[in-house]
Amino acid sequence: MTPATIPKIILDTDPGGDDVYAILWLQSLIKQGFAELVAITSTQGNVSAPRTFSNVSQVLQLGGFRDMEVGRGIALKEEAVEDASHIHGSDGIGNLSTTLPAPSHDYETARYSDEIIIERLNAEPGEITIVAIGPLTNLAAAEEKSPGVLRKAKEIVVMAGAFYCPGNVTPHAEFNVWFNPKAAQTVLDSRDNLVVVPLDVTRHLIFTQEMAQLVGQVKPESDLVKFLNALCQFMIGTSLSYRETGGVNGFPVHDAATLGYLFYPELFMLRRARVRVETQGRWTRGQTLIDDRLSPKVGLNAWVALRVDRVKFFTSLIEDLKVLIR
Ligand code: BDR
Ligand code: CA
Repeated sequence: MTPATIPKIILDTDPGGDDVYAILWLQSLIKQGFAELVAITSTQGNVSAPRTFSNVSQVLQLGGFRDMEVGRGIALKEEAVEDASHIHGSDGIGNLSTTLPAPSHDYETARYSDEIIIERLNAEPGEITIVAIGPLTNLAAAEEKSPGVLRKAKEIVVMAGAFYCPGNVTPHAEFNVWFNPKAAQTVLDSRDNLVVVPLDVTRHLIFTQEMAQLVGQVKPESDLVKFLNALCQFMIGTSLSYRETGGVNGFPVHDAATLGYLFYPELFMLRRARVRVETQGRWTRGQTLIDDRLSPKVGLNAWVALRVDRVKFFTSLIEDLKVLIR
């Protein structure tokens, strides 16, 4: 692979147990020379903005990338939206943050995530891929401050939405969209080719303890493996109790699916669509909708992933995580 074809990535994230798996997978791909990390921008979502910021810092250190810039998340304008700490732990990473080295980044002096996104996209128009795996508050804030800036990204891939399956936070909504539906609509409106990886795909990607063991075999005594095993166990516990996996003894690695799409696109089937978000609904806040009527479609804005080869997906994830750990 020549350097020009290596994706330069900004990862926008709200760790989050499944976010951690995505961050580590990306670190492995960077280590192998398949990707370049431009910045990580943290966002409020699964837990508060300061907490997601320090989680990013700690996970970066674990994977050996402590010098990367980390952005601090924009606070949600709407008050009192419920987070997902009941799934991810009160610290967002399985209540394991105290077992990790302290964060090496300072929240108070960090630049805001939207500022980093605007600056980097303007510096390298058409070059940077944004992978967004939390609520889309930062991306929307960047677009609002600097209209048209998201069109300067080479590609934007988001874990968001639920189309032909139930939601995971309400009967109709997926968490990242539900948390800030207006932001999701702003990002969808910002370009005509957003790649959307929804629950329809990610709910099939159940990571099990056996998979964690396979990953850990390469260096069972390392801090990273101990952390991954403990996180996996925690996430399985909450996922089972909230019946997120249909009884399968594992937890869904929703966010990792975005990297699966970017680096192993042959494993996914996507469909062209015009996606809209319910921003007002009393019962349907955050619902994502596609028009399936047999009539000519205009205003298409997205590619939506609807199928994945789960066996090959996990083969790739497991082998890449092993490379990071070795
Ligand atoms: C999404 O919601 C969060 O809880 C996860 O980290 C993921 O990004 C799944 O709906
Ligand atoms: Ca997430």
